[in-house]
Amino acid sequence: MTLTAERHKLEVKRIPLIPNYPPFRQWKKSALDAKLTDNPLCLYLHIPFCTQRCAFCYYKTVDLKERPEVEGYVDALCQEIKMAAERFQLSNRPIHAVYIGGGTPSLLKEHQFVKIVEALDENFKFFRDKKQLSVEAEPLTISRSKMETLVKLGVNRLSMGMQSFNDEIIKLSGRGHDKKQAYRAIDIAQQVGNGKWNINIDLLSGLGGETDETWAESLEAAIDTGVESITVYKMEAFANTQVFKEGVREETLPLPSDEQELKFMQYAIERFARSEYIPWSFFTYTKNGVDKSEYIYNIWQGMEFYGLGVSAFGSLGDSVLQNTSDLEKYSEIIAAGELPLARGYNFTSLDKMVRDVLLGMKLLRFDLQKFKNQYGFRLESLCAAPLKDLKSEGFVVVSDEAIELTSKGILYGDFVGKTLSDYLKNMYE
Ligand SMILES: C[S@@+](CC[C@H](N)C(=O)[O-])C[C@H]1O[C@@H](n2cnc3c(N)ncnc32)[C@H](O)[C@@H]1O
Ligand code: SF4
Repeated sequence: MTLTAERHKLEVKRIPLIPNYPPFRQWKKSALDAKLTDNPLCLYLHIPFCTQRCAFCYYKTVDLKERPEVEGYVDALCQEIKMAAERFQLSNRPIHAVYIGGGTPSLLKEHQFVKIVEALDENFKFFRDKKQLSVEAEPLTISRSKMETLVKLGVNRLSMGMQSFNDEIIKLSGRGHDKKQAYRAIDIAQQVGNGKWNINIDLLSGLGGETDETWAESLEAAIDTGVESITVYKMEAFANTQVFKEGVREETLPLPSDEQELKFMQYAIERFARSEYIPWSFFTYTKNGVDKSEYIYNIWQGMEFYGLGVSAFGSLGDSVLQNTSDLEKYSEIIAAGELPLARGYNFTSLDKMVRDVLLGMKLLRFDLQKFKNQYGFRLESLCAAPLKDLKSEGFVVVSDEAIELTSKGILYGDFVGKTLSDYLKNMYE
């Protein structure tokens, strides 16, 4: 990479004018194709309301008991859809995937879902051609009629938060449902969506009170449901949660140690390997590898996305941008006819490389050729030193084409991505 003084000898000579770089002879007609087609886009819509405040949850959500103005929020969201599509000229872009997340989107009333989908349809010309429309859901907010409406509206992926299938652990986590209600919700979703959507359920590893037995029970129950996808997040005890207060500060809630939690994850990886669930990211396992979140998969590969709703963020061109996180302000700004954007960040070329490595590694296989084509560097040469260590410690397998996580690499989550991206950052800073 660096030229040493010995290798470089300055040859002084007067040369003809250099008109451009690279020289015109390297320019090709095919390079125009990407410029002439509109790049695909994903959309994220945020619904910040919940029917409960779970002890572990770090999301900024508003409890319905505080009587928030949900209808007004939905109207503001529809207004923002129109304004953002116009302001950033998004209307003609192919829409790849749409993700309605939260909070708890499934608490919306049926007519509110209809309003949102109509606004998307009116303002994005290719909304109907999208590959996937996902909605996040919570067991107690699921009814047959609501699920039927979602199916009619074209929702083809339902992601349900379960966290655990052990009544004692669910109770300790501050959620309002029990195992029976969880099964009931899954049953309804499976019956109504039969063949029309894929279902994902979320589990949390490391919840308060969890033991080897309760964890195994939850995993068995999740697998037994036969849902297409199971996501296992590591429960992080963030400072703004009840779990942090009781489990870390006051020590009244027994939290599994890091070693125990690692054992839970290890068990999950082995258990999934014995069933037909195959990982596509280090925390999501899909039955026969058929379902994946098109939204998450594509934004981690660098597809542009626009975030709609309070605190939502997106990525357009070389920038990321985020809406205000203040619910009142959000609606006021929109009522004043402005976009509720509050902050952003413009990527340097180094940021882009670092982001691509960090997010791309989450998908278990990093395409080295694609990186070389995009940046002109070979990642395996730039990161030769950490890759050697990661290989010898059994975290990755490296070939000419790709860096792939081993099951140890999967177990340690973002560790490989973070190691490589930190190395890249430090190299140039
Ligand atoms: C928006 S919620 C899912 C939908 C719905 N609100 C529910 O809880 O059923 C998304 C997921 O974030 C995960 N999550 C929440 N708090 C977490 C934490 N402290 N650490 C890791 N994951 C967390 C949970 O697994 C949850 O299902
Ligand atoms: S886990 Fe889901 S339901 Fe519970 S507070 Fe967080 S977003 Fe709301």
